[in-house]
Amino acid sequence: MKQLLVISFLFSLSFQSLCFAEPAQVVKLDPLARFHPVIAEKGVTVSQEAIASQVGTDILAAGGNAVDAAVATGFALAVTLPRAGNIGGGGFMLVHLAEENKTIAIDYREMAPAAASRNMFLDAEGDVDRVKARHSVHSSGVPGTVAGMIYALENFGTMSLKQVMQPAIKLAHKGFPVSRSLASSLVRYSDYLGSDPASRNYFYRADGEFYQAGELLVQKDLAVTLKRISKQGRDGFYTGKTADLLIAQMRRNGGIISYEDLLNYKVVERQPVCGDYRSNRVCAMPPPSSGGVHLIQMLNILEGWDLNALGHNSAAYLHRLVESMRRAYADRSLHLGDPDFYAVPAEQLMDKRYAAQLRKQIDPGKSSRSKDIQPAPTKVINESTDIESTETTHYATWDRWGNVVSNTYTINFSYGSGISVAGAGFLLNNEMDDFSSKPGSANGYGLIGGEANAIQPGKRPLSSMTPTIVFEPQGEPIVATGSPGGSTIITVVLQMLLNVIDFDMGIAEAAAAPRIHHQWLPDTLRYERGISVDTLNILTEMGHSLGDKPVRLGVTQSIASDKNKIKYAASDPRREGAAAIPE
Ligand code: GLY
Repeated sequence: MKQLLVISFLFSLSFQSLCFAEPAQVVKLDPLARFHPVIAEKGVTVSQEAIASQVGTDILAAGGNAVDAAVATGFALAVTLPRAGNIGGGGFMLVHLAEENKTIAIDYREMAPAAASRNMFLDAEGDVDRVKARHSVHSSGVPGTVAGMIYALENFGTMSLKQVMQPAIKLAHKGFPVSRSLASSLVRYSDYLGSDPASRNYFYRADGEFYQAGELLVQKDLAVTLKRISKQGRDGFYTGKTADLLIAQMRRNGGIISYEDLLNYKVVERQPVCGDYRSNRVCAMPPPSSGGVHLIQMLNILEGWDLNALGHNSAAYLHRLVESMRRAYADRSLHLGDPDFYAVPAEQLMDKRYAAQLRKQIDPGKSSRSKDIQPAPTKVINESTDIESTETTHYATWDRWGNVVSNTYTINFSYGSGISVAGAGFLLNNEMDDFSSKPGSANGYGLIGGEANAIQPGKRPLSSMTPTIVFEPQGEPIVATGSPGGSTIITVVLQMLLNVIDFDMGIAEAAAAPRIHHQWLPDTLRYERGISVDTLNILTEMGHSLGDKPVRLGVTQSIASDKNKIKYAASDPRREGAAAIPE
């Protein structure tokens, strides 16, 4: 423990130098933390980017609560993790308040502009114009992140916006050393980032070369925008200079987001969806995320088997996972959308009797074919009370008082649409592609949708983001987790929970264990390296169609707590640069 405190002290020293010296210093990471959880007696922050984790933990150490730290981390990631951290996108924040024993879901998902229309991405032949949907100013929904962060802070935080935004402003203004992961992703995405003049200016060197790891990335325009927000709050983004720059960007390129759309952006506080799994209560994001509903639906199906007895990642276990996933994603395609526009049958989908009915369809020795599985017709589900990338980033904060934040936010693809708002320094999302532009036509994650997720003015595109908090029977939070990964997010979070609850894994082991994914269509079982060839052969014999080669699924950031309120935090080893940092 003494050693951990020393590590924590060194981290806090490195952060002080990061904030107050010029230029910023690299946070030194404990390489063992990739395999062992970081242990915290007080608070802890875990995120996909070490400097931002340090920002959150510094706020905790300065007396802030988990929400203060989460907002500070969110703004810091907008600077240090431009591929997914953002002020030009949106997301979902789950907040557990210890004293009130209450959990809140904050929906700050992007909204379709008022001029958006159902067929806006269809070309003359009636096909989806993928470039328009994913890499144009039309790809962007009205951003919600700034409103969401401010809403969380004003309602559940204790610090001022200036206090929590100061580290992000400094990081943008003075620069921070480019990590290896950032340097290589800027090379990888240079095709579309480099084709937008503002993005080229912001993310590539003045001589046109790529940044090398260790060089400083300074973002002056972003610093000014962040400063405006810190001074003026919501108005610093949704009106005034920032709004002028965003609207000018739209008008130059025929985009449709208007001043009115910005003014009308609204954060929605929702009830999380919760379900009981074995003796635990699992709470996650409700629609317009599909994450919570289908996480609980799959857990309900799986609860009928003794998974531990089947053996972790055995063929018998993975077969049951796949068949549960297949059915949940089939239902997703028909029934999930923005609940303010479409009557999502969430209760019915999460009904244990409906899960029992689905479980009965699963042959323990034989794969079904996705073409034979259809989403339940609405009337069957309604009657069923008697039956029953991929980018995005997740982070979590847990304070010494037991308040917990589990937050997933995104600009959709890595670097969103690739288009930056010239003069304002931030990337625009391409979240409009998460709508179903044409029934039966797959989006960027291969997901199919229909009426429930059709484009409508003011509507929020269906998401898979699944920030989750698990509670033990007495109601104490025991796990906060989540992941990026587009359509794979829900199945990644599912396997995290099963690893911890059914297989007694510690949080770092649970994060590292190989995963699989199935989403009904395409009818392909995707798997990670580490699932044995013997197991894959048995799954093939059972009739499953395997992907050609292993893929990487998700990048979790998780915190667990034991009965003595000691926290164990772990960043997924699949992506470098992440860190869990104790107070
Ligand atoms: N943009 C990915 C998601 O929200 O699911």
